[in-house]
Amino acid sequence: MSLLITLEGPDGSGKSTQIQLLYRCLEEQGHSVLLSREPGGTPIGEQIRAVLHDVRNTAMLPNTEILLYSASRAQHVGQVIRPALERGEMVLCDRYAESTMAYQGWGHGLDIELLRTITVFATGGLRPDLIIYLDINVVEGLRRKLDAFESGTAEWNRMDQKAQAFHERVRRGYLMMASQEPEKWLVLDGTRSIADIHQKIVDRVRLLLAGNRRD
Ligand code: TMP
Repeated sequence: MSLLITLEGPDGSGKSTQIQLLYRCLEEQGHSVLLSREPGGTPIGEQIRAVLHDVRNTAMLPNTEILLYSASRAQHVGQVIRPALERGEMVLCDRYAESTMAYQGWGHGLDIELLRTITVFATGGLRPDLIIYLDINVVEGLRRKLDAFESGTAEWNRMDQKAQAFHERVRRGYLMMASQEPEKWLVLDGTRSIADIHQKIVDRVRLLLAGNRRD
């Protein structure tokens, strides 16, 4: 069943753990599922990711950043996501266009309407059927991310090292977007247990699948 489900959240919110759990669960149920991520998801996108996240690239301007994230997304949508949806597969993506709105729009203060135009150009207007947002307090999120980096299970990237105020604006942006489109967003408390969050995600995806079956 062709559905695009994305996971969003501040750094350290547990997205990657949850997307893996959802992926395994859907596969066990017999769905054809493609798991991907942004920036990245294609060989070209992964090269763009390396440039974007290199901690030495402190000179990168916000305008450059938005174009690089969007370039990665354009390649990802065209090469991977749309073909998978056309084959009738479900696509789970760790971050998508809402990250651009939150980080480059709310975080850097770039014009949201301009970002929307660039995003429509990059995606051809493809939007997620469901956006799962794991909410977490910024300090707690960054602490978790640093712990994961120190234990070798996550990268510490150029975006992570931005000021706390930047991450606070990002979080506010996510919460604002979710409140504007509540039917598309599932907002969950990222401090709940892994099992609890997983169950809530599974319940919502089940509803989405049931709704689609009726169409
Ligand atoms: P992650 O893969 O560890 O979640 O890191 C991705 C980082 O890139 C994260 O800090 C959010 C940032 N990002 C943007 O700023 N804009 C975007 O459009 C995307 C996809 C990610």
